[in-house]
Amino acid sequence: MAQDPPVSDMSEDQARSELQRLALALAQANRAYHHDDSPSIDDATFDRLKLRNAQIEQRFPHLKRKDSPSDQIGAKPKEGFCKIRHRQPMLSLSNAFEAKDVEDFVARLKKFLNLKPQSDMRMTAEPKIDGLSLAVRYEKGQLVHAATRGDGETGEDVTANALTIADIPKTLSGAPDILEVRGEVYMTHADFAALNVAQEQAGQKPFSNPRNAAAGSLRQLDAQITKSRQLLFFAYAWGDLSEPLAPSQSKAVARLRALGFSTNSLFKTCDTSEELISHYRAVEMARADLGYDIDGMVYKVDDLALQARLGFRATTPRWAIAHKFPAELAWTELLGIDIQVGRTGALSPVARLNPVTVGGVVVSNATLHNEDYIAGRDSKGQSIRGGKDIRVGDWVQIYRAGDVIPKIADVDLARRPADSRAFDFAEKLKQEGIQGQRAPGDAIWRYSGAEPLADLAIESLKHFVSRQAFDIEGLGAKQIEQFYNRGWIRTFEDICTLKARFGPGQLQQVSKLEGWGEKSAQKLFDGIDAKRSIELHRLIFALGIRHVGEGAAKLLANRFVTWEAFSEAMLSAVPGSPAAAPVVDIDGVGAVMAQSVVEPFQDPARFAALQCLVAHLQVIPAPQIDTASSPVAGKTVVFTGTLLKTTRAEAKTRAEMLGAKVSGSVSAKTDILVAGDGAGSKAKKAADLGIETLDEEGWIALIEGL
Ligand code: IVH
Repeated sequence: MAQDPPVSDMSEDQARSELQRLALALAQANRAYHHDDSPSIDDATFDRLKLRNAQIEQRFPHLKRKDSPSDQIGAKPKEGFCKIRHRQPMLSLSNAFEAKDVEDFVARLKKFLNLKPQSDMRMTAEPKIDGLSLAVRYEKGQLVHAATRGDGETGEDVTANALTIADIPKTLSGAPDILEVRGEVYMTHADFAALNVAQEQAGQKPFSNPRNAAAGSLRQLDAQITKSRQLLFFAYAWGDLSEPLAPSQSKAVARLRALGFSTNSLFKTCDTSEELISHYRAVEMARADLGYDIDGMVYKVDDLALQARLGFRATTPRWAIAHKFPAELAWTELLGIDIQVGRTGALSPVARLNPVTVGGVVVSNATLHNEDYIAGRDSKGQSIRGGKDIRVGDWVQIYRAGDVIPKIADVDLARRPADSRAFDFAEKLKQEGIQGQRAPGDAIWRYSGAEPLADLAIESLKHFVSRQAFDIEGLGAKQIEQFYNRGWIRTFEDICTLKARFGPGQLQQVSKLEGWGEKSAQKLFDGIDAKRSIELHRLIFALGIRHVGEGAAKLLANRFVTWEAFSEAMLSAVPGSPAAAPVVDIDGVGAVMAQSVVEPFQDPARFAALQCLVAHLQVIPAPQIDTASSPVAGKTVVFTGTLLKTTRAEAKTRAEMLGAKVSGSVSAKTDILVAGDGAGSKAKKAADLGIETLDEEGWIALIEGL
């Protein structure tokens, strides 16, 4: 800034253009810091730019911009919003891509519900709006607050912004005392185009698509900005309620409409998967003329009593699915294939592409999955892409659906360079100096070197601090690399001990680093301290155990409740026999996952590292089922024989929801045996062991009303 002219010498034109530049630079820096967790400038420079902006504004008050950085003191979008905890989590949807997936989905539901495969089951079909979800809470007919989805459990309080959206009623009459309406905030193509013209005129960066524009417009600390943007809202679901809205999805949506909400006109009820698919095709044809973006259809079971019986998986309801529209396509050149080392040691090939725009987003990388995929085979050895392999120098067709990672759909053999060679995975690893091996039956090459790979460690640390894991404020991917390279953070435990290791000079040490100041260093230490108390499921997820995603981590946490119980069970699992591990009887956990969950506990070095980490933490147990009201909480239940009123899968899910542990075999540990029709040896064994045995009626009577 030294060479910038003194403010006192500035012309009006100079001032105007510098204010524009400063607004942009400060907004970018803010975003990099608070949203992307990767500061682009250091704190001191940030403060200097802000000061200069204020000085210019002081001299030329009439040039002060609407989006002036001075009005955004402490305007840190992510921090600026209060958090709202959703009383019922805001879930996502599982996906179907083809008609067959939809048929399978409907067949699965019927099986779960014990309905005949050929019977009709009423479903609803409606567009999947490509916007952002919002939960709006009304109490006694008054809008009290509105929250974004956030991580599904906690969202941002955007009440002031929601109040500016014309489509969202501020008061309701005839609504339940408590009503949380959920739906999608979106922007039409026309409003998006107009907004981008205005953005450019104001020297602001245009938005890349209507969804981003809607999100950026809603998540504004200054609600006046939200007001100036044309946001719309479709209501399609609900959360907390003091009384049911209606007995079915379709009637509930009609009720929301009657209460004054906009609901989508392409909503339809269907009785068979054929009807769902034909409505999908009709909407797909109409899609280009809708004037707003949709990325598929959502199908839901209409009867809310059936929805309740179907219940939820970790992050998605069993009773709904999103049927996505086919992805967008574009051709480009494959410049190279790199090998990426994942945090679990998987060596994944990544395509480096000549950047190309696919569906409004610039794509320069695409996943290549594994060696067979590159060679044109799937995991079963069947040919894919007509058996065409992928080679460096090829022209490849890229597709992406929604937020899904771009993939390669096709290869143009006519444009293949004459001298191209088939990709040799082993050779590539050799060139890169990466030691790897591919076990028989495994599609993936895995790192097999003795030394821990820096990349591997960095990846696992990044995962550890990621949003669904420890989510440490001020410690994002970029900071992890910085600290790793200095040798300050090499293990999970190092994060917890960072402050203590520096002693009293800690602040100065960190603030001397590029991109850091005292303020941000202090924030980092505070951020780490704030996460010393952590929920069990987050801790399990953070460990980066192969196959254990967020959903599985929650299942494990719910099953074992405390860290002590979890680690004890993993330690005492029979080595090499994952089937004996107590994890496999959790619905949704298979033998493969069980094996990898047990591994870190049975490897002495990894277990020691885990213990060191946990010593610095206070692990919050998973919320327990109210044992007082559930007679089966904590009990081990075995189902045998044929159940007539429900299926085995439903009975098991229900029992687990009530806090029971469902096991497949009768032993001295069994508390209750539920014997359906034709129960045989298990019933006899239970009788011999003196275990309480109930028939299906008895079981239903026991859990009735819960
Ligand atoms: S129902 C329990 N209906 O899609 C799930 N979601 O991938 C309740 N979305 O987060 C969601 N249009 O933001 C539902 N008609 C629609 C939707 C819709 C868009 C979004 C929603 C959700 C995401 C799930």
